[in-house]
Amino acid sequence: VSLPGPASAADPNAKDRLGAVGLGLLGLGNVGAAFFEMVFAKAATVAERTGIDLEIVKVGVREPRRKRRETALLGQKLVADPYEVVNDPEVRIVVELIGGVLPAKDLVLAALAAGKPVVTANKELMATCGTELLSVAEKAGVDLLFEASVAGAIPLIRLLKESLAAEQILRISGIVNGTTNYILTRMSEEGLSYKEALAAAQRLGYAEADPSADVAGLDAAAKAAILAGIAFDADVSTSDVFCEGITAISPSDIKFAHKLGYEVKLLAVAEQLGTTEESPISVRVHPAMLPASHPLASVREALNAVFVEGEAAGEMMVYGRGAGGLPTASAVLGDVIEAAHHLREETRARPTRRKARTIEKMSRLSCQYYLSIEVTDRPGVLAAVAGVFGEHGVSIRSMEQVGLGSEARLVFVTHTAREDDVQATVARLEELDSVERVGCLLRLIGEEDRR
Ligand SMILES: NC(=O)c1ccc[n+]([C@@H]2O[C@H](COP(=O)([O-])OP(=O)(O)OC[C@H]3O[C@@H](n4cnc5c(N)ncnc54)[C@H](OP(=O)(O)O)[C@@H]3O)[C@@H](O)[C@H]2O)c1
Repeated sequence: VSLPGPASAADPNAKDRLGAVGLGLLGLGNVGAAFFEMVFAKAATVAERTGIDLEIVKVGVREPRRKRRETALLGQKLVADPYEVVNDPEVRIVVELIGGVLPAKDLVLAALAAGKPVVTANKELMATCGTELLSVAEKAGVDLLFEASVAGAIPLIRLLKESLAAEQILRISGIVNGTTNYILTRMSEEGLSYKEALAAAQRLGYAEADPSADVAGLDAAAKAAILAGIAFDADVSTSDVFCEGITAISPSDIKFAHKLGYEVKLLAVAEQLGTTEESPISVRVHPAMLPASHPLASVREALNAVFVEGEAAGEMMVYGRGAGGLPTASAVLGDVIEAAHHLREETRARPTRRKARTIEKMSRLSCQYYLSIEVTDRPGVLAAVAGVFGEHGVSIRSMEQVGLGSEARLVFVTHTAREDDVQATVARLEELDSVERVGCLLRLIGEEDRR
């Protein structure tokens, strides 16, 4: 199995007769197995549409002796040493579907050093070492493609890198974690508690037994870092992303949001804060209250969607399946076909030049806030609580009191205020004797936020 050299200029049909492109697959889990089966099922269609024959040459897994659904098709292809895959001379493209940073990073570096293009779905790897790996790939003159690392089947990275290559991106807001969107949908539509909705997500296989990476927002933070890197040509890693999860949200917060005409969603936001491409950027993940009329507010269940605002292009949204073996494998196969096409044409994807951009601290950002506070129901409490907002320069837009027996819940919506002032308000409120509990703090995406 080999890929012959470039087609002869004298023979314009030579490219249609190229041999198969050998693929080395690392990982045969949810995505790897779906990709493996997809290559078998679609090889003829891909060849007919693109003139590219794909052939899986070798597959690296942790436990090659384990019985698998694909065992019959695998033959002698399965190996335990992933370097055997990377170094096989018949492997022309390496497809990394192991996950995690190590050993994936070393394997990707070894493939790039050998001049082999790499396709990966690994968000953790790209969010931690994306800038380094892309620079190595550029120096080696080979592709490193990672469409499947954010929002599964949705062609988002290609949209940003290619269709919007000349666009000044102003802001990207996305629902990029299906597990949390499923949980919030059940809480919103059925009034379930967070715990009940999480249990439902676990029963359906949308949430892991240990759901912390999803519900704490870490999975979305890795994707936010990757998106910010592409949108702003910036060196952004997960550790730069402000991250807050959904565990503090109660059904009453969601009910109150509905009353105000909002929906609660976990958003990943990457935003340019000024008017020039040198302006600072903000990259963050947190639950937000979105007006019910916002396109992202109607994204239900475990689906993903990303809303892009560009200077010239205006607003657009992409929507679809953000996870799962088949949708993710579909995006991986798209990248593999692109890498094979580049090999055939002796070219590669346009290089990305990344620069350092100032990433603004969350404490310096401003927006409107929703805050619910449980207080002892006695005279003077409201004045004391409102006084704390005033002391910190946080102006109240509206307030509502809901009785809870001897206690009461005060629900505030502020005008635009700075995050550090609001955090100082919360800290002071927590010290008041009459305050039983400061509940959820939600940031509003609304009228005062529009560009
Ligand atoms: N699952 C999704 O819906 C989804 C969506 C988007 C992106 N992704 C990304 O896709 C990647 C793969 O995810 P997945 O869900 O398919 O993972 P998975 O089901 O856990 O599969 C991992 C595979 O890697 C193999 N493996 C692990 N360590 C290895 C090592 N040191 N050497 C060789 N093989 C090794 C495992 O071998 P054994 O089979 O022998 O255990 C297994 O086949 C991850 O980066 C993930 O973030 C997944």
